[in-house]
Amino acid sequence: MAEAPHATQTLTDEVIARLDGCTDARFKEVMTSLVRHVHDFVRSVDLTGEEWMNTIQFLTATGQACNDKRQEFILLSDTLGVSMLVVALAQARASADASGATPATEATVQGPYYWVGAPERPLGYDIGESVPGEPTLYTGRVTDTEGRPLADARLDVWSGDGDGVYDMQVEGSDQMLARGVFRTDAQGRFWLWSIRPSFYPIPMDGPVGAMIERMGRDPNRPGHIHMIVSADGHVPVTTHLFVADSPYIESDIVFGVRESLIVPFEQHPPGTAADGREMDQPYWSAHYDFRLAPARTA
Ligand code: BEZ
Ligand code: FE
Repeated sequence: MAEAPHATQTLTDEVIARLDGCTDARFKEVMTSLVRHVHDFVRSVDLTGEEWMNTIQFLTATGQACNDKRQEFILLSDTLGVSMLVVALAQARASADASGATPATEATVQGPYYWVGAPERPLGYDIGESVPGEPTLYTGRVTDTEGRPLADARLDVWSGDGDGVYDMQVEGSDQMLARGVFRTDAQGRFWLWSIRPSFYPIPMDGPVGAMIERMGRDPNRPGHIHMIVSADGHVPVTTHLFVADSPYIESDIVFGVRESLIVPFEQHPPGTAADGREMDQPYWSAHYDFRLAPARTA
């Protein structure tokens, strides 16, 4: 007589069969795959009861570490490369049906420090004046993927300070620093001042930090400035510019670095900057042209 199949093999199909009544096709597809992969994972590492309980306690602590200023689950997703994978898949999907002579600017993770409602600033404004750091003139253009300038395109810009600290990390302060919204001129040009961003570690005082330490990983991100670039009729891009010679450019803890987003920062002695500003101290400049793909029309 043939032996009955063991539960370690049949349970997966049994769980998936319970989705028969699910009427949401996409949800059913996602949950079926999730069950299969989680069961395969449990089988493949021969997970013990104690290890599973540790996992549940870790996930519980991750949830408990979240508040209105901290999202430990996003940090978990970022450090396991899931956030970047979702971003890369979305962009691959968008570019598969995009036309244009050149690809759109590559996207990268948004991270936890975006703050909706940064003030609109005129071109040339210095958003880094009140934070420590070396002054930097950022210049460039926003065009479509055919190279045509996009006037009145919006750049929502934010970064940590020259020591790698974001305004949102300052205990007890609600003041926005090193943030601003800029609009391109009629030729699609932008210019603004901020600081040269420093590398910094992700928050390591929670359960994700403990996981990173146990994995033997370095917690740092290379220096970068964030921006969401958007324009009417075009697909917005959430991205960064990375400081070319920054430490950790090869080992970003959240896997966000893309070759095309690495920008050389040029050092200048005191004098008249390219936008006419008189600088009595050394400063840096960085140049980058953003390209946005046309939005699909239904
Ligand atoms: C950031 O670049 O702001 C960031 C991204 C992911 C995790 C932590 C910080
Ligand atoms: Fe950042």
